[in-house]
Amino acid sequence: MSFFTFPQNIPFIFANFADNKKNNNESMLAKIELLLQEIEGLQASNAEELEALRIKYLSKKGAINELMADFRNVPAEQKKEVGMKVNELKNKAQEKIAALKEAFATQDNSAAEMDLTRTAYPVGLGTRHPLNIVKNEIIDIFHRLGFSIADGPEIEDDWHVFSSMNFAEDHPARDMQDTFFVEANAEDVKKNVILRTHTSSVQSRVMENTQPPIRIICPGRVYRNEAISYRAHAFFHQVEALYVDKNVSFTDLKQVLLLFAKEMFGEQTQIRLRPSYFPFTEPSAEMDISCNICGGKGCPFCKGTGWVEILGCGMVDPNVLELNGINSKEYSGYALGMGIERITNLKYRVNDLRLFSENDTRFLKEFEAAN
Ligand code: DAH
Repeated sequence: MSFFTFPQNIPFIFANFADNKKNNNESMLAKIELLLQEIEGLQASNAEELEALRIKYLSKKGAINELMADFRNVPAEQKKEVGMKVNELKNKAQEKIAALKEAFATQDNSAAEMDLTRTAYPVGLGTRHPLNIVKNEIIDIFHRLGFSIADGPEIEDDWHVFSSMNFAEDHPARDMQDTFFVEANAEDVKKNVILRTHTSSVQSRVMENTQPPIRIICPGRVYRNEAISYRAHAFFHQVEALYVDKNVSFTDLKQVLLLFAKEMFGEQTQIRLRPSYFPFTEPSAEMDISCNICGGKGCPFCKGTGWVEILGCGMVDPNVLELNGINSKEYSGYALGMGIERITNLKYRVNDLRLFSENDTRFLKEFEAAN
């Protein structure tokens, strides 16, 4: 019986075998499809995760190799199709892992990967402040005459700002109306701590430590208790010059002033000196230059006079020399002081002092060419 049933079974067995192969083929394609999708969406946020993925899919015991193990069961006529699919899967997996790896590499070595030949972003360059442009010009002129720069504190004591500069104890400049006090002492004004009202204090700072010859300029910020308007500010800038040596005369001063005016405002510039008064100089003068806006003909800027005032000057008062430890019988000197804002206004016709401290880049940009 069994013999007879055998032939019947044969087709069954064969059919079953063929069926199995077909199923195997189909499920393999489905598995490949699934793996392809899976691999497409792979993510890794660090190198360890990436290595785990590599092991899962591409190692000897990985999902793809496991799939290959089934390959021998695929019917010969379909081997080509399935083989191509498996290869595609393997390539995809390798590409994906390489791409994820690349993402890490560029992250980690971002500096090394930087293209140094690339054009830089257009960085907005700043420009020098007009007051600094003019200050540097003044420094340059005096530098060529042999003056060097000296410096002093903005928070000063009464001695250096007033007393050593020969201001009487009841001089109005010492008043609250003009001076900012850091520490006011009602009983003894000499103990006051203030914001310096002029750079003349640096004269004293230098003389107390140095014997002549002295030839210095001191650019710096000064403070006065003024209501802020287009023509006055609570802080502004000055440049002070001091020359002390044997036989320094008013002629030396005048020559330096003329040279300075011509260098600053042009060869055609004329100067005139008007007698004036300052506690620290004797005689004292104020210097005007021929109005550089109308050329001396008269205009609203010079109020029709053809002259504009630019600085104060004079021979150092012998008292000041003595107060600061310099023998006034042996030495004499001249001093001068000017406001940088005033010079800048004249040179660049800025009509409102407030513009200098507002930091409006539209204003500052106008001085690009002068930088
Ligand atoms: N210190 C004076 C002021 O602030 C300016 C000045 C005048 C300075 C005459 C000087 C000078 O050195 O000799 O107004």
